[in-house]
Formats: sequence, structure tokens, C-alpha cells
Amino acid sequence: MLRTENLTKLYPLSGGTVAALDHVNLHVKASEYAAIIGPSGSGKSTLMHILGCLDNPSSGSYCLHGRDVASLGKDELARVRGEEIGFVFQGFQLLPRLTAEENVALPLLLCGIPARQRTETARRLLTRVGLGQRLQHTPSQLSGGQQQRVAIARALARDPAVLLADEPTGNLDGQATADVLALLDELHQEGRTILLITHDGVVAQRAQRQIAISQGRIIHDSGIKNPSFDNFSPKIMTK
Ligand SMILES: Nc1ncnc2c1ncn2[C@@H]1O[C@H](COP(=O)(O)OP(=O)(O)O)[C@@H](O)[C@H]1O
Ligand SMILES: [Mg+2]
Repeated sequence: MLRTENLTKLYPLSGGTVAALDHVNLHVKASEYAAIIGPSGSGKSTLMHILGCLDNPSSGSYCLHGRDVASLGKDELARVRGEEIGFVFQGFQLLPRLTAEENVALPLLLCGIPARQRTETARRLLTRVGLGQRLQHTPSQLSGGQQQRVAIARALARDPAVLLADEPTGNLDGQATADVLALLDELHQEGRTILLITHDGVVAQRAQRQIAISQGRIIHDSGIKNPSFDNFSPKIMTK
């Protein structure tokens, strides 16, 4: 489903580069629920952006559904991103002036789905995440947990096979975190592939598989029996 080979992302740093991702080899199968756990700055968001086709690696490859993402043209990439991947972010990233219903319908508007079908889908998804009574509320009229559930409904609008969630509970309190995690459990049970990014070990335990990342490298993967985590070269390569 998702497979990276020696995925590397370098950023310039005074006097050299820093490897935000350093030869990451990751294989996530269809319908898996995996957590990527690591401290702040370990490369989690960089990895998510590349897996979500929002960013390109400096080197190495990434295959999604058997297709090398680097080989896709701009339009094809946008199509893959829109149809196959749903995103959820820590900061929700809802449009503040739109209602919950309009936020969820927006990805459908952008791909030309007719109004009646957009509304129907948005209402169905908002009802599903427990917000059927909040369709016309704007984000500022909703709690953090409710906003994140709107964001999850929006991520589901185009029925993607893969859900990428970057610290989706990072801004939420205990009950809202529990609600979001329960929703992710359900989506996994429906057969979606879920990658949950978190710095919280308790949250990570909700996934089937835990992958630990540190300084851009995978240092542990509960889904692999014989990991070879050798080759510890320095992260900062000066010229
Ligand atoms: N656009 C960027 N420019 C330069 N350095 C970056 C950029 N994005 C991330 N980094 C660096 O890459 C490393 C990994 O960052 P990130 O993927 O955001 O980590 P995490 O999500 O685990 O906190 C950090 O050292 C960060 O400073
Ligand atoms: Mg991050």
C-alpha cells in the first residue's frame, strides 16, 4: 500500500544540511493501523507530508498503491492526493468563516460534485462523527474536540483509503481525545489504512503497530520481526 525506500529529506542548515528523514524504509499494508511515535523534531510531520504527497523527498522513493509517486505528473499527483488520502492535523485547519457542513463539503466542491450530493455527504459524515446537530455552526462555535471531528468528517469526504493524522489529539483534552481515538478505531475497522502520528505513547498504543522515529530514522517497529537498525551516521553533515 505505502512503501518507502531509503526515503531521505534534507533541509539546509548553517554550514551543511540536516536530515529530517534519513533513509526511512517503511511498509504499511492496506487496512493497517500504525502509529508513528517520536519526540518533537524527529521528522514525523516531514514523513507525513511526503506520504501524503504534499512534499517530495530529497532522495529515496515512495510508492503508493504500487505507483512510484515521483513518476506522477502534477495533475495525477493532485488527483491521488485528493482521492486516495485524507488528512487530519493537530490544528484542525478548518476555514473559520464556513459552517461545519460547508467545511466538510469543500473538498467535494473543489472536485466538481453537485451541490445536492455535497450537502448530503457532508450531513451524513457529520452525523456519523456525532455532529448532526451542529451542521450550521462555524468553527469558533465548536469545541476543540468538535472541530477535530469536523476535520475528520472533511478528511472522509472523498472516501479515501488512507487516513493520515498528524497529532490529531495534540490540542485536545481527555474526553475529546477519547472521542477522536474511538472514531479512528471505527474507521480502521471499516478497512481504512490509518497512520496516526503522535508524540504520546498512550495514544500510540491504540494502533495495531508502533513505529518509533528519532532524528529522522526508524529506531523501532513493532511490525517487523528482525529489524536492522544499524548504520548510525551523524545527522548533521558539515561540508
Ligand atoms: N521547512 C523546513 N526547513 C528547515 N528545516 C525543517 C523544515 N521542516 C522541518 N525541518 C526540520 O526537520 C526536522 C524534523 O521536523 P518535523 O518533521 O516537523 O518533526 P516533528 O513533526 O517530529 O516535530 C526538525 O529538525 C525541523 O527543524
Ligand atoms: Mg510535527
